[in-house]
Amino acid sequence: MSPERVGVIGGGLMGSGIAEVFARAGSMVVVHEIDAGAAEAARARIAASLAKAVQRGKLDEPSRDQALANIQVSIDLSDQADRQLVIEAATENEALKRQVFADLDAVVADPGAILASNTSSIPITRLASVTGRPDHVIGLHFFNPVPVMTLVELVTTVKTSPEVATRARVYAEGVGKTVIEARDRAGFIVNMLLVPYLLGAIKMLEAGFASREDIDAGMRLGANHPMGPLELSDFVGLDTMKLIADVLFDEFKDPMYASPPLLTRLVEAGLLGRKTGRGFYEYG
Ligand code: CAA
Ligand code: NAD
Repeated sequence: MSPERVGVIGGGLMGSGIAEVFARAGSMVVVHEIDAGAAEAARARIAASLAKAVQRGKLDEPSRDQALANIQVSIDLSDQADRQLVIEAATENEALKRQVFADLDAVVADPGAILASNTSSIPITRLASVTGRPDHVIGLHFFNPVPVMTLVELVTTVKTSPEVATRARVYAEGVGKTVIEARDRAGFIVNMLLVPYLLGAIKMLEAGFASREDIDAGMRLGANHPMGPLELSDFVGLDTMKLIADVLFDEFKDPMYASPPLLTRLVEAGLLGRKTGRGFYEYG
């Protein structure tokens, strides 16, 4: 069962996908963005993804129209006041997310509402601690692309109420996801394993040991991964990759998690992967 009224903070790659899956399950969704341009971009991203679902035979046209009608984009945070579940999917930056949680705490009226974060790596306790309701804060980590990937990591802190954890699980299962549970540690389960692997591929390229094509073909054909590690890094977004690596390195102080200079340079040059048209590869 998905809740009647859902809020999503940030309508980028992930927020737009999260809004889409809840709208497809029948929730009324309000997506919050920073300005009118970003809000319009979020709406266009959702419409394009729904069109793709129709094209792939996953959705019929009336259901697409209903899903679109269930989504409103907004730049006024007070539109989140009556939400039962709010999922924060803004940029992977702790200070920014702490501000979002403090603002949500002031705005969301229902004391039973769940405030969730889709962070890839930041400990949930740090976000919960800026609110007056840490027992209602939880991690709900979806995977990219959200309409296709069936996993959600549910992350509880020492303060999360068991009732909130149960309800969050029901909500995630209500949009067709399989839930796994992790304690509150940077990177949770999947990114603790996936990110060092992706960083390893970047280090291999940086060392000049093999070409980008051969590294990717190696993992696609030799390990049956749908994408090679450099393609996947471009798909996630190199800015997001670096931010995740920085959080993991800060938590564990293990060089395995340090951002390789090549990744840092690409981000500094604004080459962020698919979203900017160039990262390890060029996109038309
Ligand atoms: N809505 C619904 N279904 C869709 C869809 C959409 N918008 N787009 C595609 N699909 C469905 C297709 O119908 C197809 O389903 P069937 O197999 O049942 O026919 C399936 O999704 C795959 O579609 P395609 O084979 O046509 O798509 P593709 O070849 O373009 O595959 C991909 C794209 C699914 C992204 C695939 O390349 C893939 O799985 N890549 C790896 C993705 C991955 O590892 N993601 C995790 C990133 S890490 C992360 O998310 C965590 C973090 O914190 C950074
Ligand atoms: P993105 O850069 O595509 O989107 C972030 C969006 O947040 C932008 O549209 C931006 O305008 C918006 N934003 C920034 N500050 C905001 C604010 N104060 N209020 C409202 N909106 C704001 O990033 P993304 O890839 O969608 O990542 C979002 C979150 O999801 C991050 O925490 C990331 O770690 C996590 N995540 C990403 C992936 C991935 O593969 N990219 C997978 C799982 C989780």
